[in-house]
Amino acid sequence: MRPITYVILINSKTMQIKGNINNCVVIELPKIINRAGSITIVNGGNEVFFQIERVYYLYDVPGGVARGGHAHRELHQLIVAASGSFDVIIDDAKNKKIISLNKPNFGLLLTPGIWRELENFSSGAICLVLASTKYNEADYIRDYNDFVIWNGGNQ
Ligand code: TYD
Repeated sequence: MRPITYVILINSKTMQIKGNINNCVVIELPKIINRAGSITIVNGGNEVFFQIERVYYLYDVPGGVARGGHAHRELHQLIVAASGSFDVIIDDAKNKKIISLNKPNFGLLLTPGIWRELENFSSGAICLVLASTKYNEADYIRDYNDFVIWNGGNQ
């Protein structure tokens, strides 16, 4: 498996690690194929470097609707299009990028400090999320201006 290299940026005022979209990479997950179909495996501490503390999935997303619209302070996530497709817009308050997910054996690693919006869901899409911590509302930054300040503004 290809090694992942991170460039760590620190907010000089708060000493928090800042999100950087270049650290949010799409990784290929193992896929075992046979006549009866395919299986993809994600082990915490292996295919993803964090331990998986929580799994959730988004489905029945109506066409034209966007989800997300927040950042996390500490949470790491792997986002997979388990079925169908959708786009993830990632934003570190300086740069933005659109990542299209459409294969169940590829996942987007999202670090803390990344504002994300999920949109363009295909009919029947399932967005599977493997998360490094349990749900904690205090970990969310739901206001974009607060996020820009938290992430250190211009990097
Ligand atoms: P939210 O993360 O805001 O959804 P999205 O970013 O996909 O639009 O969560 C939507 C609601 O679900 C919110 O009221 C919090 C709740 N929720 C939980 O209770 N536990 C969880 O693990 C998650 C992800 C959400």
